[in-house]
Formats: sequence, C-alpha cells, structure tokens
Amino acid sequence: MEFFLDTANLDEIRRANAQGLMDGVTTNPTLLSHEGGDWRSQMEAICQEVDGPVSLEVVGESAEEMIREAEDLSAFGDNVVIKIPMTSEGLVATRTLYRKGVQTNVTLVFSPLQALMAAKAGATYVSPFVGRLDGIGHDGMELIRQIRTIFDNYDFPTKVLVASIRHPMHVLEAALIGADTATVPFKVLSELVKHPLTDKGLAQFNADWDKLNK
Ligand code: G3P
Repeated sequence: MEFFLDTANLDEIRRANAQGLMDGVTTNPTLLSHEGGDWRSQMEAICQEVDGPVSLEVVGESAEEMIREAEDLSAFGDNVVIKIPMTSEGLVATRTLYRKGVQTNVTLVFSPLQALMAAKAGATYVSPFVGRLDGIGHDGMELIRQIRTIFDNYDFPTKVLVASIRHPMHVLEAALIGADTATVPFKVLSELVKHPLTDKGLAQFNADWDKLNK
C-alpha cells in the first residue's frame, strides 16, 4: 500500500520522509493557501523534496485551460501528477493528458460511477473523499469498497487513492479493502505510530532500568 502525505508543508514532508513513511505527496489549492507565499516556489520545492509522485492541482474550468496548466505544472519535475476535478471538462483533459502520457489524479470523487468514468478516461489515480462523505452522513468507506470492486471486475489499472482521511480507522479500512494508496494528513500519520501500551511499556522499562542502576 502506498502512503502519500496530504500536505503542502515542507517540514511535514521532510519528517515523514525521514521515517520512510512517504511514497508521494498530494496537494490542493487549500493546502497551498495554508503555506502562503509564492505557490510556484512552493510547488517546485515540494517536487524536489519528494522522490515519488506529487499531485499538483489545476484550477481552470475548461479542458483547454486545464491542459495548458498541466503543461506549466509538469515543468516543476518529472514526478508531477496533474490533479484534475471530476467534471465533464476534467474528463476531456484527463483523456487528452492520458494520450500524451501524462499522469493524472482525478479528484473530488464522491460516487462509484464518477470513479468508473475517470478510469475509463484513463486516470492514473482517482481520489474518493471519504471524510467529506462521512461528514454529511454517508459511508465514505463503502464508496472505496464499491470502487475497488468495479476496478477489479474490469481490470482497470487506475489506482484507488483514498483521500480526505480524518483518522487512523480510515487508513486501516482502506488497507483492509485493498485501496492502492491513502493520502494521509501529517497529524493522522503521526497517530498511526502511537499506541498507549507502547508508551506504558516504555515507561516501565525505563523505570526498571533506573532501579537496576541505582
Ligand atoms: O487532497 C484532497 C483531500 O485529501 C482533501 O481532504 O480534508 O480537505 O477533506 P479534506
């Protein structure tokens, strides 16, 4: 299972990289806005810091605009994946980029049929947003199960990239379902490492070691 970091923050990227936990990065306009500054320099720095795929999102609404932006964003590195919204125009852009051999990540996917359309258009990744679905009383992980089934039924090579992850259970369920990738916020990635019994056990070992050395 691939772990991507859902961030535009370089400190978080460096920390996850040092732990060997990060296979790639996903960004979006909101995450970049949290960092402030010049988004071009930020994107370039992220692409240099990361060995694996880095998703950079287009903001144009027409396919032509998205394709133009994709050309611009691709210049930041060989590892750039163009993130495209799940719209009718977005599918045209996805198909055009697929024909040119450019990797794409179709984002803002909320239904299994949207995922199927993105796969048919030739998307490299689809990003279903589980946390936002849970937030309106739907079952985000059920969407992942349905997409996994559809892609397996027809051997689509498109990867299921679980996005909008809110807590460790989302990551666990994604792994059990067989999602290819989870894009995880740094906070959740840190929570995956922790266990209260690890902390308790460590405190006990340290206390006993101190007793032994008195
Ligand atoms: O990067 C896309 C996705 O992970 C966004 O998540 O937290 O804004 O719902 P969120």
